[in-house]
Amino acid sequence: MDQAVMQEPNLNAPPHVRHQRLIAWVADIAALCKPDAVYWCDGSDAEYQRLCQQLVDAGTFIKLSDSKRPNSFLAHSDPDDVARVEDRTYICSANKDDAGPTNNWTDPDEMRATLQPLFDGSMRGRTMYVVPFSMGPLGSPIAHIGVELSDSPYVAVNMKIMTRMGKAVFDVLGTDGDFVPCVHTVGAPLADGEEDVKWPCNKTKYIVHYPETREIWSFGSGYGGNALLGKKCFALRIASNMGRDEGWLAEHMLILGVTNPQGKKYHVAAAFPSACGKTNFSMLVPPSGFDGWEVTTIGDDIAWIKPSADGRLRAINPEAGYFGVAPGTNMLTNPNCMRSLSRDTIFTNVALTDDGDVWWEGMEHDAPGQALPAHLIDWQGKDWTPEIAKAQGKDGKLKLAAHANSRFTVAATNNPALDAAWDDPKGVAIDAFIFGGRRSTTVPLVTEARNWVEGVYMAATMGSETTAAATSAAGVVRRDPFAMLPFAGYNMSDYFQHWLDLGDKLAKSGATLPKIYTTNWFRKGADGKFVWPGYGENMRVLKWTIDRIEGTAHGTEHATGVIPAYEDQHWTGLDFSAEQFKTVTSMDKAAWQAELKLHEELFSQLAFHMPQALIDNKAKLAERLAA
Ligand code: GTP
Ligand code: SPV
Ligand code: MN
Repeated sequence: MDQAVMQEPNLNAPPHVRHQRLIAWVADIAALCKPDAVYWCDGSDAEYQRLCQQLVDAGTFIKLSDSKRPNSFLAHSDPDDVARVEDRTYICSANKDDAGPTNNWTDPDEMRATLQPLFDGSMRGRTMYVVPFSMGPLGSPIAHIGVELSDSPYVAVNMKIMTRMGKAVFDVLGTDGDFVPCVHTVGAPLADGEEDVKWPCNKTKYIVHYPETREIWSFGSGYGGNALLGKKCFALRIASNMGRDEGWLAEHMLILGVTNPQGKKYHVAAAFPSACGKTNFSMLVPPSGFDGWEVTTIGDDIAWIKPSADGRLRAINPEAGYFGVAPGTNMLTNPNCMRSLSRDTIFTNVALTDDGDVWWEGMEHDAPGQALPAHLIDWQGKDWTPEIAKAQGKDGKLKLAAHANSRFTVAATNNPALDAAWDDPKGVAIDAFIFGGRRSTTVPLVTEARNWVEGVYMAATMGSETTAAATSAAGVVRRDPFAMLPFAGYNMSDYFQHWLDLGDKLAKSGATLPKIYTTNWFRKGADGKFVWPGYGENMRVLKWTIDRIEGTAHGTEHATGVIPAYEDQHWTGLDFSAEQFKTVTSMDKAAWQAELKLHEELFSQLAFHMPQALIDNKAKLAERLAA
């Protein structure tokens, strides 16, 4: 038989796929990556169950106890494949300036030449899954379609939860609809008869975006944002480019609805860097003292925001599920999340209990007497007991049973606080933006910007301590403009200009612009502990922002913006002293002088195209701080 023909896997394109360009592209990628088979996902529940069973048989998934955690699975990844790899993530625009100084850039032709041999034969011994997905409600005018080709069944089942995935996408695409092509391989081809490992991946990793051609190529990782390409790669890095060209925003933001006791509803979009509280804030349960208030979730990680005809900014959540941080989640901090995770969940890198359930740090608060479990299998498959954890821990801390970036994947529809409009193709009208970092010092609990430009400046100069969500060192303060440092798909100073232009445009149309705030839940006291109780208690800050919109709450002008005084906050139900409040809201002049230096560093790094309005705002801030 002809060798060339033998090597081509049967494309198996189903009859409902009528898009010749798509079929030809799948054929091209199959010819390049040389999988043993091609499988077109239909997105059905039966398919999901089949693939999960296949992952169980392969040892990638452990099926959890059906009585403890129905229809749920646990995966333990390779210890070197646990988070986004920012230093391996590239924006390969035609011109270097278009990627900007905060992104890794390589000339697109050069990158293609580098990737070609890596992808060549990369799927040998594996099946290539064709994963069609819609970011946003199917067929909605604001939704966009992607097709991910991946040799990871783990990716296929996660995409089923995280996006609107399946057959119906081909109907929307028709014969010539637009889609973003996403190619993903774990980069671990199998030789004939070679046995697979539980979590195939490659030491070499490349997460590559070509903004002009709107393409994504991901090599070597099976984890999270590196591999589920609808999320950060498409919905932020590629979509931010679409948004710049078309006049809208793709943001690393949760979206929530908040209804006051009078029944008036507001919508807030909030950007906090990775692992800084978006999922928690989006599912907030109002604390005691807030009878009649309700918070509902529209999205927990990404917002696509478009100006509508009436001059309002309307936001949709392009995702359909949550890929959230497990550690720290418990019935006290986030009961809505815990309820969401009671079934139908994929857990990655958490610990396994002896009775077939999951455990992570923070869950001890759900146990009677706040007990640690007597025995677990940790995220690396090793025995864990409090004694072992103590002996093997560092700096007097217990060795972690769950990885600090261990996560859950669960459908939005499992969330008891899901907003009725979460799936509305029109989106919701945004009343306020919040930008929040993780700062143990300097930055107050909440600050209101006096105008749009000041708000953009605050967001642009935001700093935050790094977390386990990326593989670099955690706990280092870095500037993370708009919580988009790892996700802006084009030059950051052009991105600032885009925000300013949008504000101008809305103001000219006579619309009321959303108010802009910054928050910081993470100030620490002399004892090294968080002073602000956070979580549900963040409702107190949310209420102040809403009351400011209504014009009913007081605040005091400071150099950086407007900050509430102790008596401006609603304290019923919480014992929090004026002294404690001072610890989380005080403005230390020396600390802010040092902070301004860091703004200056950022401005010189981003000097290319830095908007004059922000340069002027910085000068005014410097004057006020010096006064
Ligand atoms: P990504 O999914 O990485 O984008 O993270 P995220 O922004 O959604 O963060 P998430 O809500 O998952 O919270 C991350 C970590 O911060 C968890 O361990 C939470 O328990 C903790 N956290 C969230 N909100 C608060 C808060 O108000 N105060 C304190 N102290 N910790 C919080
Ligand atoms: C983040 O890191 O901001 C996440 C997780 O939401 S990931 O999907 O890996 O990007
Ligand atoms: Mn995120």
